[in-house]
Amino acid sequence: MKTIHKTLLAWYDAKGRHQLPWRNTDNLYHIYLSEIMLQQTQVNRVRDEYYPQFLEKFPSLETLANATLEDVLASWSGLGYYRRAKNLHATAQLVKNNLPHKELELLKLPGIGRYTASAICCFGLSQNIPVVDTNISRVIKRFFALVDAKDKEVWDKATTIINQKKPRDHNLALMDLGSLICLPKNPKCTECPLQENCLGKDEAEMYTKTKKKEYITMELFFGIYIKDNQIALKYSDDNMYKDMLVLPSVEPIEENFIGQFKHAYTKYRLDVKLYTLEEFEGDVIWIDLSNFDDAPISSLTKKAKKLLN
Ligand code: ADE
Repeated sequence: MKTIHKTLLAWYDAKGRHQLPWRNTDNLYHIYLSEIMLQQTQVNRVRDEYYPQFLEKFPSLETLANATLEDVLASWSGLGYYRRAKNLHATAQLVKNNLPHKELELLKLPGIGRYTASAICCFGLSQNIPVVDTNISRVIKRFFALVDAKDKEVWDKATTIINQKKPRDHNLALMDLGSLICLPKNPKCTECPLQENCLGKDEAEMYTKTKKKEYITMELFFGIYIKDNQIALKYSDDNMYKDMLVLPSVEPIEENFIGQFKHAYTKYRLDVKLYTLEEFEGDVIWIDLSNFDDAPISSLTKKAKKLLN
């Protein structure tokens, strides 16, 4: 195991993604924020767009706790999976400026599961614990040739191979190995530092069989009601967009048709059609079209606005 640790860390030194901003800080809040953003969003988008902007607006847990949910959701606008932002805000209000330093305490907070808790403790506090995300899980399944392994088995294996002297770099190295070399399809086994000891390398794809993604296609009809350069929105009654402002749904009337676009969101593949609307049912929230980016709106609503332009 010593040799494996050494080879892995040498590879990480040479090829790892050391420049990622959340790897160059010991601010636990920044690390926590990055992990929440990275859960469902690609590294480059988080690094270039959302992480720096969010931290500029909410530089500490305290500023986040004191912000309104509406402001937090507006900063999350376009990132999707808005429950993440709500949980982040709720957590900031619960912890009073200090995140716990223990995995079990972190797990009690909203939106923090085993991966996030262990990532905070290991990447932020160098604790000697395993971290398993989808990349690390794939590396471990292949390395040990685990077929149909349950999560617990993978976490247990991750525990057995931890590098007690350098747990942080060890786990980051495994993560980067999964992201750069041990790819889901066509892994680059000849470039892998662990190839000699990898039990799964000859049938690498056997260990990563995933269920085929099933999409739900839907047509959605929204009403556009604009007055004095303001657009009428409402608070969503759909759980997925809870506390976000959305366009009102309408019955499609052909002569009111404005235009349409396609939109993908989580498992949905949507055909969105827009119609002019003359009357608004329910509580209307007027949003200035020139302040659109400060409102808690989704990328679907942003796309609709673009189409109107
Ligand atoms: N570095 C630390 N955590 C990370 C993550 N979740 N994704 C990519 N790089 C990371």
